[in-house]
Amino acid sequence: MKLAKFCAGLAVAAAMAVPGGVAAATVKVGVVATYSGNGAQFGEQITRGMELYIKQHPEAFGGHEVELIKRDSKHPGGDVAKTMVQELITRNGVAIVAGFVFSPNAMASAPLVTQGKVPMVIMNAGTAWIPTLSPYIARVSFSMWHAAYPMGAYAFEKLECKTAAIGYSDYPPGKDSLQAFQMGFEKAGGKVVEALPMGSPAEVPDFTPFFQRVKDADPDCFYVFVPAGNHAAAVAKTFNDLGMKDAGIRLIGPGDITQDTKLQDMGDDAVGMITMGHYQADYPNAENQAFVAAWKEAYGEESTPDFMAISGWDGMAAIAHAIKTQDGELTPEGTMNALKGWTFASPRGPITIDPDTRDIVMNMHVVEIVKDGDRLKTQVLDTIPQVKDPCKELKVGRCGE
Ligand code: PHB
Repeated sequence: MKLAKFCAGLAVAAAMAVPGGVAAATVKVGVVATYSGNGAQFGEQITRGMELYIKQHPEAFGGHEVELIKRDSKHPGGDVAKTMVQELITRNGVAIVAGFVFSPNAMASAPLVTQGKVPMVIMNAGTAWIPTLSPYIARVSFSMWHAAYPMGAYAFEKLECKTAAIGYSDYPPGKDSLQAFQMGFEKAGGKVVEALPMGSPAEVPDFTPFFQRVKDADPDCFYVFVPAGNHAAAVAKTFNDLGMKDAGIRLIGPGDITQDTKLQDMGDDAVGMITMGHYQADYPNAENQAFVAAWKEAYGEESTPDFMAISGWDGMAAIAHAIKTQDGELTPEGTMNALKGWTFASPRGPITIDPDTRDIVMNMHVVEIVKDGDRLKTQVLDTIPQVKDPCKELKVGRCGE
């Protein structure tokens, strides 16, 4: 009798995969990212980061499963992303939407996640004020101000740049970068001598006329924000082609322009470039070495993660935390509460989601491009610990809302 009862108990326990006694759930997560066209590589990096986390950390989900439903937002216009988010919420019934490479795609989708009460985990889109658009948005990537504002002071104080030019892609994260760098640089005592909008994020423009104008203005530093990928590769090429390094101009910017996936194509004139960012594959800490090794094992020795991959990885860890703490039964408020204040030992270093702003807090590193044999490498020069988005700290414009 006793034995029979014991055996029956075992069978029930085996049917329930979850220790707490709740049946294992499959949580649907919509991933909206660019998988085609000029930004195709971004969607691949983010998704690979997410999938690698799932593969390496099945235990992090508390016995539950996650199903990724991927949708191609195609371009930065916002319209396709919005349609995809609408479908994911109404037809697929996702509990969370994630991804969002380009800022306009996150902005256009924000009202939908508010109406549908579906938490949005942003894994790239960097315009500072995006999280103010909905209480259901949390960001695990960065704000453009994380890099641009401290880089303003760093350029003046450490790089001894007294004058600077700023070049930016002409859309919200570019305008953010302009404002943030200019404020940081001028507060420190520098003077901005040129500020140039340089075309759209959708197509790579010919940067030559813009860079020629900067060369003629002869600033000490040239701060550039363009989307990573093909835009960033073209920036390094134009800088090389016009001989701007020899002309004594220092190319600086956010880590977007020293993205790991493009680094080896950047040419020798990129040596000496200095950027402020939150992730490079060369970071020597143990978590990152393990992450890069796992990445290469999964995706090939020639493949490298970059700053978009790390947001996919960290974002998936944040989603796993939300699933585990709610035991697979997700509610919008439960998910947002799990995300607020979440901390994690990321390969980029320790990160937290600020519970007040739902934006990331992380270390920012100044890196220099150096030559190591035939390879270009990023070497950390300086670290600013645990930076909160300066736009919200300083309550600038829409960040103060
Ligand atoms: C953005 O649209 O917010 C964006 C895109 C690419 C980047 C950074 C920011 O490299």
